[in-house]
Amino acid sequence: MKHFLIFLLLSCSLAAAAAAGIGSSSSDAAAITDLARSLTNPPSTWTTAGGGDPCSSFKGITCSPSGRVTAIDLAGQNLTGTLPSSLSTLTALESLQLQGNALSGAVPPLRSPSLARLSLDGNAFTSLPAGAGDDLLRAAAPALRILTIENLPLPPWPFPAAVLGCRSLQIFSASGTNLTGAFPAAALAANLTSLTTLRLSHNNLTGVIPTSLGKMASLANISLSYNHFQGPVPEFAAGVAAAADVTTGNGFCLDKPGPCDAQVSALLQVAEGFGYPYHLARSWTGNDACKDWVGVECDMEDVEILGLTGYNLSGTISPAIASLKGLKVLNLANNSLTGEIPEALAALPKLSVVDVRNNRLTGQLPKFKASVDVSADGNSSPSLRNQHGSGQGEGSLDDGSSSSSGSAAGAGIILVSTLVVLVLGMLGN
Ligand SMILES: *[C@@H]1O[C@H](CO)[C@@H](O)[C@H](O)[C@H]1NC(C)=O
Ligand SMILES: *[C@@H]1O[C@H](CO)[C@@H](O)[C@H](O)[C@H]1NC(C)=O
Ligand SMILES: *[C@@H]1O[C@H](CO)[C@@H](O)[C@H](O)[C@H]1NC(C)=O
Ligand SMILES: *[C@@H]1O[C@H](CO)[C@@H](O)[C@H](O)[C@H]1NC(C)=O
Ligand SMILES: *[C@@H]1O[C@H](CO)[C@@H](O)[C@H](O)[C@H]1NC(C)=O
Ligand SMILES: *[C@@H]1O[C@H](CO)[C@@H](O)[C@H](O)[C@H]1NC(C)=O
Ligand SMILES: *[C@@H]1O[C@H](CO)[C@@H](O)[C@H](O)[C@H]1NC(C)=O
Repeated sequence: MKHFLIFLLLSCSLAAAAAAGIGSSSSDAAAITDLARSLTNPPSTWTTAGGGDPCSSFKGITCSPSGRVTAIDLAGQNLTGTLPSSLSTLTALESLQLQGNALSGAVPPLRSPSLARLSLDGNAFTSLPAGAGDDLLRAAAPALRILTIENLPLPPWPFPAAVLGCRSLQIFSASGTNLTGAFPAAALAANLTSLTTLRLSHNNLTGVIPTSLGKMASLANISLSYNHFQGPVPEFAAGVAAAADVTTGNGFCLDKPGPCDAQVSALLQVAEGFGYPYHLARSWTGNDACKDWVGVECDMEDVEILGLTGYNLSGTISPAIASLKGLKVLNLANNSLTGEIPEALAALPKLSVVDVRNNRLTGQLPKFKASVDVSADGNSSPSLRNQHGSGQGEGSLDDGSSSSSGSAAGAGIILVSTLVVLVLGMLGN
């Protein structure tokens, strides 16, 4: 986070220096000339012949008294073509409006620290600046008030974390742009305290919407429909709720605000530990975890098996699994899970099989009952080893104190620990 702030400060001060002197109006004029050339059908007033001055004769271009380009407004002019990379040199740009055209290709990095409005909606752009848009937002973060990028045919991209650093943002519209993965709603609610409009419909966003989003005092216009949101329907203040477009096309547990079933809540915390992966979000919808949820099998109404072997899961194992009281089998092998196996799992009364092989788990095995068959090889911590149900697992995990083991094994354990004591005694001498 520190690095991000330093980067922000640096990029702002560098750009400010450029704005103060190094950049010149002639380079701004050159960038506009490039733009005129890269549009296949530029506006009729944009004639580069005869040395036309963009600041005085180009409709839609606004300049400062010192000749810097401060605004480009070409909304809804049926323009085709691409944007030149020299747009990056317009470091005094405050507003860029290109919505409602048919522009294509990549949006070049924009580097103006005074950019307050950026509207690109409804074009054919196929990429935003590198870093999934973060580049663009870092430069503009302090000033940006309006960011609208709806309906662009982008490849799947994650919610741009840099938006959370745009503290002045009032309008953020990114419906229909293929945003995929967890929506950081809590961070957004905490940071974007001026946000009035939030439009994210028709994406592939996942996660449970925290109550803090509904409580944002500034928010007046919100749409979240047609994503893969789960958990309780968020509740908004009366004025917002009337117009809110939130419930349709998502996977909320109910169709109006209210708590989810206990097993659903527990499993959604499990999904949270994994960062709300898309394939779980598509399946884990509604208020009955026993109804066709991938990886979930039930006995009557109790979740009995949670089997997510080889699901390419990352993140951590949630202790909320411990509230699935009927759980017998937990299979999470062959993923990329990190962190420790929660100690709380040892208290599950019916648990008989735990398979967490081939992850990147650390720490110790919880003190499972001797009847639990544990497979934990292939993790980061050498103390995570298989431990077979009889209680005589290879790799003694708890320094021989497993005296709660089955009666037949008892004698052997006493023998082994006597030997250990003897050997240790000899080494000590
Ligand atoms: C937009 O431009 C295309 C050709 O580029 C043309 O066929 C079409 O009529 C134009 N539409 C409008 C509304 O001007
Ligand atoms: C999202 O990206 C996928 C994969 O590139 C693509 O097939 C799909 O059409 C995109 N969706 C939208 C709405 O652009
Ligand atoms: C949210 O704002 C806090 C300061 O209030 C800041 O430290 C943090 O970096 C911001 N979060 C993001 C993700 O930018
Ligand atoms: C969601 O992702 C799938 C698979 O990549 C894609 O086909 C679909 O177009 C996406 N939906 C939206 C609304 O972007
Ligand atoms: C919300 O914002 C959208 C886009 O700016 C606008 O079309 C719509 O009318 C707004 N809705 C309300 C209720 O203000
Ligand atoms: C597994 O997940 C990682 C990111 O978590 C992704 O880059 C990779 O493409 C995924 N692999 C498969 C086979 O889905
Ligand atoms: C994990 O993956 C390995 C290699 O692909 C495979 O041999 C093994 O059977 C898998 N383990 C489980 C429990 O599915």
